[in-house]
Amino acid sequence: MKIAIVGSGYVGLVTGTCLAATGNDVTCVDCDPKKIDMLTRGEIPIYEPGLAELVTRTAAAGRLHFTTDLAAATAPAKLVFLAVGTPPADDGSVDLSALWAVIDQIASHIANDTIVVLKSTVPVGTNAAVTARLKELTGRDCDVASNPEFLKEGTAIDDFMKPDRVVIGTRREEVHDVLLDLYQPYLRTDKPLLAMSAESAEMTKYVANALLSTKISFINEMANLCELTGADINEVRRGIGHDSRIGFAFLFPGVGYGGSCFPKDVCGLASVARARGLNPRVLDAVHQVNQQQKIVLAGKIERHFDGQLANKTIAVWGLAFKPGTDDIREAPALVLIDRLLELGATLRLYDPEAMANVRRQYGDNDKLVYCRQPDEAIAGADALAILTEWKQFVHPDFEDMRRLMRRPVIFDGRNLYDPHRMKTADFTYYSIGRPAIT
Ligand SMILES: NC(=O)c1ccc[n+]([C@@H]2O[C@H](COP(=O)([O-])OP(=O)(O)OC[C@H]3O[C@@H](n4cnc5c(N)ncnc54)[C@H](O)[C@@H]3O)[C@@H](O)[C@H]2O)c1
Repeated sequence: MKIAIVGSGYVGLVTGTCLAATGNDVTCVDCDPKKIDMLTRGEIPIYEPGLAELVTRTAAAGRLHFTTDLAAATAPAKLVFLAVGTPPADDGSVDLSALWAVIDQIASHIANDTIVVLKSTVPVGTNAAVTARLKELTGRDCDVASNPEFLKEGTAIDDFMKPDRVVIGTRREEVHDVLLDLYQPYLRTDKPLLAMSAESAEMTKYVANALLSTKISFINEMANLCELTGADINEVRRGIGHDSRIGFAFLFPGVGYGGSCFPKDVCGLASVARARGLNPRVLDAVHQVNQQQKIVLAGKIERHFDGQLANKTIAVWGLAFKPGTDDIREAPALVLIDRLLELGATLRLYDPEAMANVRRQYGDNDKLVYCRQPDEAIAGADALAILTEWKQFVHPDFEDMRRLMRRPVIFDGRNLYDPHRMKTADFTYYSIGRPAIT
């Protein structure tokens, strides 16, 4: 099938590549010429495990193409996927300007039987509004399907190839059949394709992200309470997780959720609720708890040093919002960096994949040292803060660390280490929701 993917970012590029891998002829479009130039040269603008190999293979087979020419890509396509960004607007609502720009540009190019597929995360009612806009522009009843994406950065290829489920919102049986045919190769382990109304499909994506965010904010609030009571959130987590009604997933305390989805989708859904006269109290609380959680680690550092950070050097391990990606959008590490810079600290930063993005954001700054290795970052540091649970941080050589650091102090925002072990290793150790070792 001939497919155009508009927006070649984390979702568009993975979607296009995975669809090309099963034999479709895919053209990925982006309005950013630098991105398309890189892709055409075989360079991948983002870090996503396994993506580079698959792009190289499908492009070499002649099934994956890249262009900035929206008209040329969409005119011959049976399916036009829209995977442009839908960032938060200043008031917390969803900024759909990129989506509307694309709709207006493609209207005069798409064929009578083209199906427009909304893959971007968009508020309920967008499918209906896009359908109406296309009718206005083309004079026809164009098919518009909703097909929200559930992939996770860091495991995106696997998630796309073996999804838990595929959700599609359609208005016509024929459109359903085309999408079922397209997704069949990815559903071979009996995972379902869930057909529903466009409105339900749009809501499903937001409700999923809102519930996952709720779990994170809930466990973070409980972790903070554990700290005040002498309980250990890890023991509590095990105590509740074995209850089959609760389980373990997404109940890891930490420094708050980040990334380009949870923060904006919780606020976007709250904004949809407010626009319809519903007070979204749970969603607002989830967001507020998360905002506060992002400054919890900086608060611990500030208290440990009695606010005297002007002559202190803090190493930071982990800058991406989660392991397996170079994405720093809304990353808790950025909140920590900003706060510690405000207090005058010098920071020695290390992340295995996100250094270029962080350097692009902060530029050259006397107070920021960009390091190439974890050891380089902790050399001479008064403390180490851990913000992302990259696997390479899980088993460090604590003796080496003691030798390299000016003081053996760790602020662990991801609860990577066993507090008893840290006590034996003679570290001062702060984590989330567990008694500090001082
Ligand atoms: N990143 C994720 O993990 C994830 C997961 C599921 C859903 N989503 C949703 O998917 C959508 C895309 O997210 P993303 O993370 O891939 O964003 P992204 O910012 O990585 O990519 C969006 C791309 O769209 C391009 N673009 C913008 N306007 C365009 C235009 N007019 N014409 C052509 N290209 C244009 C941008 O240049 C960019 O490359 C969002 O709605 C997001 O909420 C993201």
